[in-house]
Amino acid sequence: MSKELDNQEQIIQWFNNTYTKRGFWYLRPKKAYYIYLEILKAQPNQKLLDIACGLGRLLEASKDYNVKPYGIDISSVAIMKAKEQFPDFNLSIANAEKLPFENNTFDIITCIGSLERMINTQNALKEMLRVGNKNCKFCFLVRNSETTSWQFFKTFLGLKNKKGHQDAKNLKEWTAIFNTAGFEVINVFPDQYPLQKRLRRRSLWLKKVNYKQLVNNNEPIEKANEFLFLLKKHD
Ligand SMILES: C[S@@+](CC[C@H](N)C(=O)[O-])C[C@H]1O[C@@H](n2cnc3c(N)ncnc32)[C@H](O)[C@@H]1O
Repeated sequence: MSKELDNQEQIIQWFNNTYTKRGFWYLRPKKAYYIYLEILKAQPNQKLLDIACGLGRLLEASKDYNVKPYGIDISSVAIMKAKEQFPDFNLSIANAEKLPFENNTFDIITCIGSLERMINTQNALKEMLRVGNKNCKFCFLVRNSETTSWQFFKTFLGLKNKKGHQDAKNLKEWTAIFNTAGFEVINVFPDQYPLQKRLRRRSLWLKKVNYKQLVNNNEPIEKANEFLFLLKKHD
């Protein structure tokens, strides 16, 4: 087996075990996924493809927007569990680097917390551009390498999850990766869920947090734990 296939098999095994042992507890709750659909301005009947959909949490949230939900993931356990929960969704086991769809199929493509798990990110991005139509909007959540937690715990103490292919890059690097691949960045936001949770704690549980609304914070975007990119195809 080549080293690349070997690595890929290890990643699949790690996610299969994680989903078997931890199931939905491994992921954020459904309410954390609304913000992606909001910034994408998802409309009824649009075809949405969630790449590396895991157990289908984003697709579950997308029900409220009446989009046509499609999802792929490389973990057979994830897809099996997602199918049990959402039998009407179009879900398949596939590698993001080789998508089983025709050119120009989708209006919206999301990839949440997963690009850095892929062996060849450029191949995956190329495939997303291929299956997205001319006006397709893309939303990616990717990890920042310039946080204390990444630099101290994951890098210095060596706690990076190598089997699950955990990786991170800084804002400049991610932006360059997307530009080089052929995307145009429309906007970048800090990851919203930690900010929403903080807001909720500060409000002493009295005020309800609107998970569909962006949280304004005054911290520089470079400090965000993860970056939320909104993109389109380069003209
Ligand atoms: C951290 S989980 C995020 C799951 C989901 N996006 C969510 O937010 O609920 C990362 C996911 O990436 C998937 N994955 C990793 N490499 C992949 C690849 N090359 N193609 C498709 N899925 C992949 C894993 O199986 C896993 O489900």
